[in-house]
Amino acid sequence: MQLDAQPPNPSGRLTDSVLEIRDLRIWFGATEVVRGVSLTLRAGEVLGLVGESGSGKSVTSLAVLGLLGPAARVEGSIRWRGREMIGLSNEEMRSMRGREIAMVFQEPMTALNPVMTVGRQMTEAIEAHERMSGREAKQRAIAALEAVAIPEAARRFGDYPHQFSGGQRQRILIAMALVHKPQLLIADEPTTALDVTVQAQVLELLKTLQREHGLAMIFTSHDLAVVGQMADRVAVMRRGQVVEAGSAEQVLTDPGNAYTQSLLAAVPTLRTDREKPLAVVS
Ligand SMILES: Nc1ncnc2c1ncn2[C@@H]1O[C@H](COP(=O)(O)OP(=O)(O)OP(=O)(O)O)[C@@H](O)[C@H]1O
Ligand SMILES: [Mg+2]
Repeated sequence: MQLDAQPPNPSGRLTDSVLEIRDLRIWFGATEVVRGVSLTLRAGEVLGLVGESGSGKSVTSLAVLGLLGPAARVEGSIRWRGREMIGLSNEEMRSMRGREIAMVFQEPMTALNPVMTVGRQMTEAIEAHERMSGREAKQRAIAALEAVAIPEAARRFGDYPHQFSGGQRQRILIAMALVHKPQLLIADEPTTALDVTVQAQVLELLKTLQREHGLAMIFTSHDLAVVGQMADRVAVMRRGQVVEAGSAEQVLTDPGNAYTQSLLAAVPTLRTDREKPLAVVS
């Protein structure tokens, strides 16, 4: 289903899109869990992916990151800045991941290594893609922690993940994701594990950084209000397909699709005014 297709220019390439997913199909064994998904993402744009549990949001994101593993069969096309990603070797994918395309997932505790200090994990992430002295890497890491408002970043550099709060751990992961100045950030339910006030703060941080860095972002959430605050455009998934896509405003206030309407009906209140700052309770 191609709900958000743009007319191609004469060379056949879409003009300003950085990510083009065309007719993506993903199988686990005989089960087709993503069934012909097409999505386009422009530079600096946030695409919200919503839909019920099991609709294929995470596997679509993982396919873009090349992280599905050998159990999955992937067909179709995922072009990142004109380059086909499906079929890249693990090594090619690894060099892209973290550098051009970064990710933040739901569970900061499982994404961080519990027995390694936060500082060491950060400097390792930095040194994975850039050659620099240990001292420089440490300075970079501390600056990155300061950018996500970790108090006393230099002092806390040697602390372990469990010594930080859940919100701080997610900030640390955001800092790690952005350390190489990627152009695309894939955020899969990045605040779902956090309580509501902390969630609002982390979302506001993410939105600020997204704007500052001009990041393109795929933002996955089952929370439509959250997606309304973050996304420029929204795609609604159901049973492995995109059933509706359009501007966040249109999809979240005037959906054409009955399934989107039913999702919205389940949300008590929804504010789509994305210019308003999120309520931050301190
Ligand atoms: N490794 C796997 N092996 C087999 N099936 C899988 C695997 N990963 C995902 N699936 C299946 O693929 C489908 C889509 O899963 P996915 O995780 O993308 O859903 P989702 O939309 O992210 O849901 P949620 O909102 O719960 O996170 C589901 O039916 C799921 O059971
Ligand atoms: Mg998911």
